[in-house]
Amino acid sequence: MSSPSVIIRSCESLNEVRACVRLQKEVWHFTDLELVPLRMFVVAQKIGGQVIGAFSNQEMISFLLAFPGVRAGNAYLHSHMLAVRSEYRNAGLGRRMKLFQRQDALQRGFELIEWTFDPLEIKNAYLNIEKLGAIARRYSINQYGITSSPLQGGLPTDRLVAEWWLKSQRVRSLLGEGKHPAIAPVATISVPAEVYEWKAAAHARVRAKQVQDHNREQFLKAFSRGLVVLGYECDEKRNGKFLLGRWDEDWAYTAG
Ligand SMILES: CC(C)(COP(=O)(O)OP(=O)(O)OC[C@H]1O[C@@H](n2cnc3c(N)ncnc32)[C@H](O)[C@@H]1OP(=O)(O)O)[C@@H](O)C(=O)NCCC(=O)NCCS
Repeated sequence: MSSPSVIIRSCESLNEVRACVRLQKEVWHFTDLELVPLRMFVVAQKIGGQVIGAFSNQEMISFLLAFPGVRAGNAYLHSHMLAVRSEYRNAGLGRRMKLFQRQDALQRGFELIEWTFDPLEIKNAYLNIEKLGAIARRYSINQYGITSSPLQGGLPTDRLVAEWWLKSQRVRSLLGEGKHPAIAPVATISVPAEVYEWKAAAHARVRAKQVQDHNREQFLKAFSRGLVVLGYECDEKRNGKFLLGRWDEDWAYTAG
């Protein structure tokens, strides 16, 4: 469903920002209290963030929202939301949105984009780590509290922080030549494909929670040992596996 006729660009008018809010509601089914309101999209636009849309025949089929952040005096972008309308998924549009985001960020002098993702979401982990080359070495327990979105299945909103070092050799060779970095994993953390069904069905949710509890402990232990998520594997049944290894800080900017 994703084709070259899909146009990706920064949103301009208020009507386009309204379309982002509508798509957000459609994708996450948040209550009104939890929706990111129009005015926060506008603020993001005005303070150096990003509000990017994908349009097919004038219809918005994807949006992305990012805010500028600062850490230890260095500016970066925090990408808060990426949504693709369900009938346009799994055709490369999410990846194209991130590539557009990267180009825009590089043009404006950013070297890092971060975002958080649910480590139980196998598809998102695969896209972030394996297809975009992000790494992860921070874990946030129940970041937003319990949310109204059915995508979360009533579970605590545990999140991994993805760091996308835009100029790193790792990212450049993956995006440029499709070359995956050589990794020597010293630990792995698995997520069974059934986790989606377990989250969706009230009677099975306890099993998803068990995986979350177990993996939370594994991540915290691994990160305290200095390990970093560097790769992600999916088998033919779509079970997921995080690959953790060593990461040299210098690799964020140059080789690695
Ligand atoms: C996450 C999201 C933005 C991805 O958009 P998308 O256009 O479907 O992504 P892409 O097609 O570029 O990439 C998805 C990849 O995951 C693969 N995939 C799909 N389902 C999968 C699964 N269950 N397990 C593993 N991989 C899966 C796809 O095949 C594709 O890989 P490929 O290109 O090698 O075939 C979209 O699914 C979405 O809007 N989800 C709901 C909101 C959300 O979770 N947003 C992200 C957090 S803010």
